[in-house]
Amino acid sequence: MLDIQKFRNETPGCLEVLHFDNAGASLQPDCVYEAVVEYLSCERRIGGYAAARRYSDQLDSFYDSFSKLLNCAPEEVAFIENATRAWDMAFYSMNFERGDRILTAKAEYVSNSLAYLQVARNKGVIVDVVPNDHTGQLDIESLEDMIDEKVKLISITHIPTQGGLVNPAAKIGKIAQRYNIPYLLDACQSVGQMQIDVKEIGCDMLSGTGRKFLRGPRGTGFLYVKSSMIKKLEPTFIDLRSACWTASDQYRIREDAKRFENWECFFAGKVGLAKAAEYAMSIGLDNIYERTKNLAQILRTEIQEIPGVTVHDLGVEKCGIVTFTHNQIPSDVLQKLLAEKQINVSTSTVSSARWDLEERKLNSLTRASLHYFNTEEEVKIFCKAVVSLMEG
Ligand SMILES: Cc1ncc(COP(=O)(O)O)c(C=O)c1O
Repeated sequence: MLDIQKFRNETPGCLEVLHFDNAGASLQPDCVYEAVVEYLSCERRIGGYAAARRYSDQLDSFYDSFSKLLNCAPEEVAFIENATRAWDMAFYSMNFERGDRILTAKAEYVSNSLAYLQVARNKGVIVDVVPNDHTGQLDIESLEDMIDEKVKLISITHIPTQGGLVNPAAKIGKIAQRYNIPYLLDACQSVGQMQIDVKEIGCDMLSGTGRKFLRGPRGTGFLYVKSSMIKKLEPTFIDLRSACWTASDQYRIREDAKRFENWECFFAGKVGLAKAAEYAMSIGLDNIYERTKNLAQILRTEIQEIPGVTVHDLGVEKCGIVTFTHNQIPSDVLQKLLAEKQINVSTSTVSSARWDLEERKLNSLTRASLHYFNTEEEVKIFCKAVVSLMEG
């Protein structure tokens, strides 16, 4: 049994807001906040470079923490300023050529889709979106049928921004391995919410962010690249962190995943993110997911009882993200009215998920994303608040 009250006591934000926006940015626990503030305070007192020397063990511990969190080697982890740039560093290093194919999914993250469209326009790469099965998750059989020798990359978003869907990442990994195709997984909404084991999933590259379900600081993210893949990916940008200037006309790119990093970064955030990973692991990712998934299911069941409300989450497995619409109150208005009651949710719009929401004829959705520190009581308060807005 998880001691939810303890986690709430360690999360002062719980006293101020009813926070159902953990897929946007979660509430930080005290230990993360304190790690960041302590580091910043040290920088203020002795200077940024001296602080980095003093905290070198904690800064290095980031790689150990993430190797435990993802079940990989510390050398396979890079600290990057957000999930998008982490994903970009892997994606744009792929060296695409005209006629190469990328297989992706309907529920793809907007910035990833934009990157596919860019390499399609500029390099003549073909982007093929794998259809969903009848439940709304990526159809595994179609994925396998679509494979040929031109497929250069399988690139999937594990859990989309705009719904409770969990795409079958490990089944996709089996196919990628069977055909020996590089597999990039956007795990931005899943790391911190559930156990992620890169070996079990079978991905070659995985990106994620700090501020969402990991409850870390904003402006932090990470990239995993499998050791056998690192040397095949020459970063599009290099600097004095990722490469060494060995002679006046020579340089050598690092052999570990730090080749994808920048020299300058958010040092306090790196220490805070390592702390967030340790905190999540101390609770247990399976415990976190079990609790979050169940709470979200309670919300789905209760909210769809409200007249006019439709729940829209797809897939076989549904996570802590709950999306719904009301037939009279637009999602952005609902979000604003809830915010006035100190209730945080987000709105997902069609312009950030065209391959998914256009087909479902949804212009926008209200997204309530729960975490383990939320409570059944909050679910009740939330549903009552939605009802009262409709009455008002
Ligand atoms: C699925 C997914 N991928 C990537 C991102 C981008 O993350 P970041 O804002 O850290 O770049 C998000 C953010 O909402 C996301 O939901």
